[in-house]
Amino acid sequence: MKNNISVKINGIGSFVNIDELNSLKASAVEQLRILREGKGPGSEFTGWLRLPDETLSITDDMRACAARLRAQAPVTVVVGIGGSYLGSKALIEALTDPFGHEEHRVLFAGQTLSEDYHATLLRFLDTTLYNIVVISKSGTTTEPAIAFRILRDHLKNKTGEKGMRPHIVAITDARRGALHQLAVDDGYQTFVIPDDVGGRYSVLTPVGLLPLALAGYDIDAFARGMMAMALSLREGNDTGSNIAVAYAAARNSLYRKGYTTEILISYEPSLVFLAEWWKQLYGESEGKESKGIFPASVNFTTDLHSMGQYIQQGERKLFETVIHVERPRHSLVVPGSSDGSDGVGFIAGKTLTEVNHKAEDGTRIAHIEGGVPVITIGLPRIDEQSLGQLMYFFELACAISGYLIGVNPFDQPGVESYKKNMFALLGKPGFEAERERLEKQLKVKG
Ligand code: PA5
Repeated sequence: MKNNISVKINGIGSFVNIDELNSLKASAVEQLRILREGKGPGSEFTGWLRLPDETLSITDDMRACAARLRAQAPVTVVVGIGGSYLGSKALIEALTDPFGHEEHRVLFAGQTLSEDYHATLLRFLDTTLYNIVVISKSGTTTEPAIAFRILRDHLKNKTGEKGMRPHIVAITDARRGALHQLAVDDGYQTFVIPDDVGGRYSVLTPVGLLPLALAGYDIDAFARGMMAMALSLREGNDTGSNIAVAYAAARNSLYRKGYTTEILISYEPSLVFLAEWWKQLYGESEGKESKGIFPASVNFTTDLHSMGQYIQQGERKLFETVIHVERPRHSLVVPGSSDGSDGVGFIAGKTLTEVNHKAEDGTRIAHIEGGVPVITIGLPRIDEQSLGQLMYFFELACAISGYLIGVNPFDQPGVESYKKNMFALLGKPGFEAERERLEKQLKVKG
């Protein structure tokens, strides 16, 4: 299988200096070499680079576990946040018919602290038997830990303590963390997140694969897509034509010219959560040491009627990366009409994709003319294989780009600040002095 994804950067030509772009491509090739040789910052978390070569060996276990869970309840709640949530959420949203009835429903919890969200989830779960797949690499993250406690309590009322055990699967570290210990003590089936794979690069581990298999999708095709991209990017390793190198260099050349916000755009509503996954990947990887491109997203043509105004004429610090989906999965033609009074008679006989693509072409030209550089990523269609290719491409480009910016793309030290404050304000033992300081601040600032 070959890689079918393309990257076009002619839409940035008039905004960057071509010599600078070429020199950034050369630096990106060098950063890729450093990444592959494990010599860059955070190299202890680059195990995701080899995952495509290994994953087909775990897909049988994922399918078997998914089949067991599917046979024993019609719903599974996946509990996790950040990288332990967004990959599977993005894939399931991209592939699922929004108006259909899934054979097995995959729902999410622990990605928020909202009381309303979890209370209404429980109200729905009152009506059905369900499984819980709890995912946390550290095994100590507050949001999923709270949701898991609430759900276990709820499930126990249905099944009893012993009956609950086969309904729970834990995906966590092999040795450390509260979740690991709980899974061992309570005897839950467990899958491991490798030590050297960080959350946001973990979609090709059980973290992404088990929920995807539960939702009924072809995890082998997804893994093969990742493999095809990995192979193609290895072959194109040492040239600027490697699409991960090309994308990383292009966005960095724009960043250096003052384009500090990148908007990921697609014209398919099913890709809204793919953009959420991408934002986490790039935001958490690059945004540190007062540096980094701010990742944002919009969905067109919907948001052309809201954010489109700002993008066309607002402050000129934006650039776009458009995911151009080449072929739809379904066909729908605009019908003819005897009277034409609705004003769209000239579109009769065209498919909606033809119209959508013309909207995309028109928007690209308008935005470039309005001062917004555009990178275009061609995706053949929305299926498991293409999404596997796209996600691996984004991961590799992100790591290269983080090195180009000069940061460690595999840590997230800034995430700790809110946690410390939250723990102190909630009265966690050991945080007493901090609590006093924060409460004083709250009084002053309101
Ligand atoms: O990318 C990351 O490492 C983070 O976004 C984590 O995935 C997130 O904080 C959840 O962590 P954990 O899986 O340890 O609960």
